[in-house]
Amino acid sequence: MKLYIRKPFKGNWVILALVIFPLFLGSSWSFAVEGDAEAGAALFKNNCASCHHPLKRQTGPALKGAVQRWADAGEAELLYRWVKNAGALISSGESSRAKEMESFDPSVMTPQAVNDQEIDNIFAYVESFVEPARASGDDGCATPYLIKVKESSGRWKMLLVIAVILAFVIFAIAGVNRKLKEVSDEFDTDDDQTYLELLKDWLWKNKVLVSLITIIVVLIGLADLGWRAGQIDVNEGYMPSQPVKFSHIIHACKNEIDCKYCHSSVEKSKHAGIPSVNICMNCHRSIQEGTYFKGEEIGKIHEAAGYDPESNSYQLDENGEVVGHPIVWNKVHNLPDHVYFNHSQHVKVGGIDCIQCHGDVQTYDGGKVASVQEINKLEGVTKLTKPVLTMGWCLECHNETDVDIEKNDYYNEIHARLKSNPELLKQFKGDDKITVRELGGWECAKCHY
Ligand code: HEC
Ligand code: HEC
Ligand code: HEC
Ligand code: HEC
Ligand code: HEC
Ligand code: HEC
Repeated sequence: MKLYIRKPFKGNWVILALVIFPLFLGSSWSFAVEGDAEAGAALFKNNCASCHHPLKRQTGPALKGAVQRWADAGEAELLYRWVKNAGALISSGESSRAKEMESFDPSVMTPQAVNDQEIDNIFAYVESFVEPARASGDDGCATPYLIKVKESSGRWKMLLVIAVILAFVIFAIAGVNRKLKEVSDEFDTDDDQTYLELLKDWLWKNKVLVSLITIIVVLIGLADLGWRAGQIDVNEGYMPSQPVKFSHIIHACKNEIDCKYCHSSVEKSKHAGIPSVNICMNCHRSIQEGTYFKGEEIGKIHEAAGYDPESNSYQLDENGEVVGHPIVWNKVHNLPDHVYFNHSQHVKVGGIDCIQCHGDVQTYDGGKVASVQEINKLEGVTKLTKPVLTMGWCLECHNETDVDIEKNDYYNEIHARLKSNPELLKQFKGDDKITVRELGGWECAKCHY
């Protein structure tokens, strides 16, 4: 039964294949361009890539399929003239294809110094171009935009604690008030006494109660201080939403852009610095569409930069100033104002890697305060226990970390300190090691204004 059905079917299949195969070949032939794709890759990169991408619209249109488009218009030969001098071909009026490109600025495609063979090579490369595999896993990068931004509940915890303390204080004061009233009733007859004297009398009479309340208030104050200075974590995991969906996974991991390209002052100053819109525009003037949000998120960069992708120009106001505004990023890490922290001191002088304090930033999208637990899982970091950004965290690391005396720019200063401190010198000679703490990394004034 089966055999009976299969036989004629097989025959049909062969006939079908015979009919389709030439069609298939024909169509793929009309796309194929004779030329050396490898040589074309270099030519494309040098001459065309500043304005064109094979698959994406940039300043100029996506080039893959261009050969076919010109062939379809019956102008396969004019394509060579176009590349060599687009302006001349447009003004000659000979090409309908040239006219179709009116949505672009006709003056933009400058004459190209390439010969016919080189043009063939370029298009051989362009037509054979496939997007390099960038899916997660292939490049070892995390998948962007998977983690929903969750605002930390830390602030709420803090507000709650403050509310409880406030309530307590109010009750305490109410209690005192009531007592005061009772007392003033008692002494009602004695009109000569002022309130202050009344209060003194009352305080004296209720020594025990007063001392108790004082002790409790002081204890709460201390507990709060200790809590803030290192016991309870209010920061870790904080990852605020941002005005533009910027992703470190896409930039730092997939596209391997160096942290310092954007955070350019990290070795030179106290601040690492957040890049201005101009830095984004270095790339996003030509990269106008993204894989994830098409033109939507990158459009926000253009809007902020006062750039109009349609006309490929910056919009100017009457005074000739660019109509734009900065992108207002939400701060992620935020030490209190009374704390002094310096990036250059740690990154340049101390030689500490970003991951030690910020975690593996290239594995998440927006800025986030990494937790000690996740940092401790990374290779080559000093394992700490206190929550990131607390005073305990700074102190713990200063206690654990040896200063590399040989490489240290402050060698002379350290040397002087060693000489003037025999105790320190002895320690140093003992094990050849000096921690940040021993050099003064626990002195209040080093970190507090
Ligand atoms: C300075 C920017 C710039 C450079 C460099 C440039 N082009 Fe263009 N190209 C454009 C623009 C813009 C257009 C759209 C038409 C116009 O405005 O002239 C275009 C259009 C084209 C088209 C027509 C596309 C279509 O769909 O029909 C082709 C083909 C082309 N360019 C090929 C090249 C090649 C090949 C090179 C390199 C040898 C190159 N271009 C270099 C800006 C550029
Ligand atoms: C050195 C080049 C470079 C710089 C500088 C740069 N980007 Fe990008 N950006 C890229 C590349 C490459 C992509 C991936 C585009 C794609 O998906 O094809 C990208 C993608 C994006 C996306 C994703 C859009 C989407 O829909 O997938 C956003 C948003 C973005 N960038 C924002 C920014 C911001 C904000 C800045 C400035 C702080 C910036 N970029 C600076 C190269 C850069
Ligand atoms: C020793 C720990 C430590 C190291 C190492 C470190 N940072 Fe920081 N970083 C911090 C602290 C603490 C803050 C918060 C500073 C504040 O609020 O004043 C911060 C803040 C930032 C900020 C936000 C604002 C700013 O301009 O200061 C950026 C961006 C940043 N770091 C990037 C980096 C990069 C990139 C590296 C590596 C080249 C790095 N950091 C290395 C501890 C560190
Ligand atoms: C293409 C530009 C770009 C590159 C490359 C880049 N960043 Fe960022 N980074 C930003 C922008 C924009 C922000 C602000 C938005 C946010 O916090 O999500 C930011 C935020 C941060 C923050 C938090 C800042 C704050 O407010 O506290 C840290 C920390 C940080 N980056 C570290 C790094 C590290 C480490 C690297 C290298 C692995 C890196 N960045 C690479 C653009 C970049
Ligand atoms: C990962 C370890 C580490 C962490 C966390 C850390 N530091 Fe440091 N810090 C160092 C090292 C190492 C040096 C010494 C650099 C050098 O001079 O060689 C240093 C030096 C300093 C100095 C200069 C001390 C001196 O003697 O001149 C200050 C100030 C300082 N850190 C402040 C802070 C503050 C504030 C924090 C917390 C917000 C912090 N550090 C967190 C490792 C750390
Ligand atoms: C290595 C840096 C460093 C040193 C040294 C240091 N502190 Fe701090 N201190 C911090 C940081 C960072 C914070 C902020 C912690 C936070 O916000 O959770 C802080 C917070 C505090 C606070 C809490 C204030 C508040 O906002 O709640 C007090 C009080 C304080 N420090 C006192 C001291 C005293 C006293 C000394 C000396 C014995 C000292 N600190 C030494 C880094 C340091």
